[in-house]
Amino acid sequence: MTVDNHSPAAVIVLAAGAGTRMKSAKPKIMHEMCGRSMVGHALAAAQGLEPDYLTAVVRFERDRVAEHITSIVPDIIIADQDEIPGTGRAVEQGLEAVDAAHGGPVQGTVVVTYGDVPLLTSELLQELVAEHNEQGNAVTVLTAVLDDPTGYGRIIRDADGSVSGIREHKDATEEERAINEVNSGIYAFDAAILRDALPKVSTDNAQQEKYLTDVLGLAREVGGRVAAVATQDRWQVEGANDRVQLATLGKEMNRRVLEKWMKLGVGIIDPDSTWIDVDVILSNDVTIKPGTQLHGQTIVGTDAVIGPDTTLTNVRVGQGTTVIRSVATDAEFADHSSVGPFAYIRPGTKLGEDAKIGAFYETKNVTVGKGSKLSHLGYMGDAEIGEYTNIGCGNITANYDGVNKHRTQIGSHVRTSSNSVFVAPVSVGDGAYTGAGAVVRKDVPAGALAITYAQQKNMEGWTQDKRPGTPAAEAAQRAQTPSTTDRPGA
Ligand code: UD1
Ligand code: MG
Repeated sequence: MTVDNHSPAAVIVLAAGAGTRMKSAKPKIMHEMCGRSMVGHALAAAQGLEPDYLTAVVRFERDRVAEHITSIVPDIIIADQDEIPGTGRAVEQGLEAVDAAHGGPVQGTVVVTYGDVPLLTSELLQELVAEHNEQGNAVTVLTAVLDDPTGYGRIIRDADGSVSGIREHKDATEEERAINEVNSGIYAFDAAILRDALPKVSTDNAQQEKYLTDVLGLAREVGGRVAAVATQDRWQVEGANDRVQLATLGKEMNRRVLEKWMKLGVGIIDPDSTWIDVDVILSNDVTIKPGTQLHGQTIVGTDAVIGPDTTLTNVRVGQGTTVIRSVATDAEFADHSSVGPFAYIRPGTKLGEDAKIGAFYETKNVTVGKGSKLSHLGYMGDAEIGEYTNIGCGNITANYDGVNKHRTQIGSHVRTSSNSVFVAPVSVGDGAYTGAGAVVRKDVPAGALAITYAQQKNMEGWTQDKRPGTPAAEAAQRAQTPSTTDRPGA
């Protein structure tokens, strides 16, 4: 077992509450901000402590919540809370599960955090644990001073400033309610003292719950030292109970993500309209223009310019690449390629170096080779395009026969003319051409010109004959009657 200051025996993440104020079919802690659920953020912060055991206490929507949590941390210990309510009971059952996994009572430091406090960082938790261990405390509570402490437990201090306990808002006197230093609900405990105290905690209070906060008094009774770490950063201890708070915390988290990237050399023109998930990776000298959202595992290389008005989800963007007013998901754009404006890039699109997908193009499951261009107005699906090929305006792959999808293979240095349709499965060899409006149903050999030619027929005088009296007929009439001034010798 590691015994440095930052590595506790266990972290217990409390996630059993219902979260009814969210008014949602989805459990509160599964609501997302910046690309992760709230509990996902809480688990990431907890993992940063590298605890020997990580456990989450669940009850509300047990199976759904447990499955979600396990999908994030597969080896987490799921602890079930029974019908006895309160944070004290939740921790008691969390600790029992940890001890069971350990095969006996764990020793050392046990940290408690909440699944609905998403801005808490590993760094602040490390500070809490370091302070707790260095001072040899029985309990160290993370506190914050709030302008409006309503609803929170208040930190009660002795005349000498040491912490004597926590009084819940509902149980507090007017005098105690005037205290604005609050309990964040995040603590470091000595495992043995916590284990001894929890069975002694009663439900004899305004909410008839087992209060974890009662452990502070019980720890002092056995001679333990109780102290507080007060953070200046109130955002890190705030929970989201409703959708208003969810949006407020989400906006602050996004602001922090943007600030981090700007400090690392990323240019963000308008932070107010830019949203970047926590797992996105950017290089210095990337420029992000207004109205851009970068989601999931998106990675952007140096000198790339993204936006305005662009949404990328799990997209890898190369160096010096530009993406303008486009939407892309699960795609790769190599160095110095360009996308947009107004491109819709669907999963499986791989754009090569110096290649282009231009205006009003939709792609899906397509590989475009180096230097090739799909410049305007079309759809390419289930296709492979070689290098330095130019796909003309309005080209389309007819890749779906109503039952199955088929592939189109287009070689290198191909020139396709406007409005060509590739009826898959079909292939076009290197250096081949297609004529305007070609419907390519048969493979085209290298170097061939494919045309699907229907003779053009002009029916003379058709407009005057069939549409008499219309402006079109009158225009045709004027065009066919030589004007007097044009007459030779006039
Ligand atoms: C708790 C603290 C309060 C503190 C506040 C900070 C207690 C008695 N009070 O109050 O001092 O200021 O948090 O937000 O601890 N939970 C369970 N099982 C339960 C009850 C709660 O897992 O039976 C979980 C919830 O999912 C939530 C957390 O514990 O993540 C806090 O629960 P909540 O009911 O919000 O606590 P408060 O009453 O606000
Ligand atoms: Mg409560």
